[in-house]
Amino acid sequence: METITAIHTRHSIGKVKPESLPRETIEKLLDAAVQAPNHHKVRPWRFVVLTGAGREKLGQVMADSFKARFPDAPAEAFEKEARKPLRAPLIIAVAADLPAEPKINELENICAAAAACQNILLAAYDLGLAAIWRTGDPSRDPEIKKFLGLSPDQPLLGFFYIGFPDFIPLESVARPSFEDRTVWME
Ligand SMILES: Cc1cc2nc3c(=O)[nH]c(=O)nc-3n(C[C@H](O)[C@H](O)[C@H](O)COP(=O)(O)O)c2cc1C
Repeated sequence: METITAIHTRHSIGKVKPESLPRETIEKLLDAAVQAPNHHKVRPWRFVVLTGAGREKLGQVMADSFKARFPDAPAEAFEKEARKPLRAPLIIAVAADLPAEPKINELENICAAAAACQNILLAAYDLGLAAIWRTGDPSRDPEIKKFLGLSPDQPLLGFFYIGFPDFIPLESVARPSFEDRTVWME
């Protein structure tokens, strides 16, 4: 697929089949992610691959976190939260490293990790997979970061829910133009 075509026609798909993905396919996604640009060659991205029971453990931590935030919510709400990571057979959590030396800039590390995120979405699309970038409160919760092996202040950019698409959108919906977001200085 032409890169420009992929950029224009890729769309997020949240509804996927439960079938797991071969490890080789997951590695292709990670391999695409690390082709992203980064300053000072620090490779500031971190990936946590969650499949099978790993997703169930994440769901439990997410439900506990939800309970801490909304102690009075009904039991069904906790159960719903626990089931969220089961929406896809594969979740890749993506985080950025905090700068380890003065010349390294946190924003630049986040930018590089975000570029890796977009590579995951485009690679998934090229491989015929469905993917969606999700964040929400869990991505900012120190307990969830701890579960993922991250430090509390480490930026967690999001969770990529990936699987075989359950449906293919009939047509690609064009996105709004760049025009109202652009100033030309000539
Ligand atoms: C940083 C970031 C966080 C997002 N978090 C969520 C989320 O938690 N839940 C959700 O439904 N969509 C979320 N989205 C939006 C979807 O990933 C998706 O980009 C959006 O629905 C637009 O669809 P498209 O990718 O087909 O253009 C997020 C997007 C970004 C960039």
